[in-house]
Amino acid sequence: MLIRNRRLRSSEAMRSLVRETYITPNDFLVPLFVVEGKGVKQEIDSMPDYYRYSLDLLTKEVKELWAMGLKAVLLFVKVPDNLKDNSGTEALNADGLMQRAIKTVKDACPDMLVMTDVALDPYSKFGHDGVVGNGEIVNDDTTAILAEMGLSHARAGADVLAPSDMMDGRIFEMRTLLEDEGFYNTGIMSYSAKYASSFYGPFRDALDSAPVDLKDIPKDKKTYQMDFANRDEAIKETLMDIEEGADIVMVKPGLCYLDIVRDLREVVNVPIAVYQVSGEYAMLKAAAEKGWLDHDSVMMEQITAIKRAGAQVIASYFAKDVVKLLG
Ligand code: PBG
Repeated sequence: MLIRNRRLRSSEAMRSLVRETYITPNDFLVPLFVVEGKGVKQEIDSMPDYYRYSLDLLTKEVKELWAMGLKAVLLFVKVPDNLKDNSGTEALNADGLMQRAIKTVKDACPDMLVMTDVALDPYSKFGHDGVVGNGEIVNDDTTAILAEMGLSHARAGADVLAPSDMMDGRIFEMRTLLEDEGFYNTGIMSYSAKYASSFYGPFRDALDSAPVDLKDIPKDKKTYQMDFANRDEAIKETLMDIEEGADIVMVKPGLCYLDIVRDLREVVNVPIAVYQVSGEYAMLKAAAEKGWLDHDSVMMEQITAIKRAGAQVIASYFAKDVVKLLG
């Protein structure tokens, strides 16, 4: 034999010398769930060891993340039911929970990169990412609101807006409004290839944001999120978002969609983020709890696969666990 591949696998020293993919704290974007109240740290039922924080405890958490070398967070808020309506009025409240959360993180850690979820569902009494009307999710009314919502986050100090809704044209609306209002330094990370996935279940528990039963509208998000059978469409969506002004694009969920990440890597020249979503987190936690999978090694394998596929940014509920393991 002239070639023996096992030579390069013979010891950890050799393997680490030729390893193609390394994970560092710089890879991560940490999703954080924020609630009203004081002293609140609530574990999410379907996301063991993951929590919702009130603003006072958010301060402590982001300081801890920063000390670990985790320098970017993605904020989500759980909105009280009495503030929900059809058009996300509360989302534009300059003193709303998101706007206060942004300031709280910046006060605690001025250099922390603050990204914010821009979408109607946490504010929608119907649990949809858009305005409901005439038996549909009304696209253009929604994008106008999303742009205002993004502007409101930018005013509160957000560094990067992350629209997770999948309406058409929302990046253009948002970017145009930011330019008009002088927020030309505010970034946009577009959820550009976001699939209608059943892996989002635990997240909807976390924010109490699942779509409700309506007579004339399906209880899913398939009229705006992408069909998981499609691949070419992800390229079309993503190229459009880049033309409309997105700085970073995203594929979501993670593991089942790494072919899409690889496809995009070949055709785009902007950073690609992958969101390893709540259902992926829950699956591993559950299997590990049963003793069926080894938590840490499966976690590292999954995160490495996401980066190997071509992601520069990994939004993951495992971020802290991984960084602790890196030592
Ligand atoms: C909604 C939104 C969802 C997630 C992020 N933003 C759920 C959905 O589309 O219904 C899911 C994240 C996760 O599952 O971890 N705008």
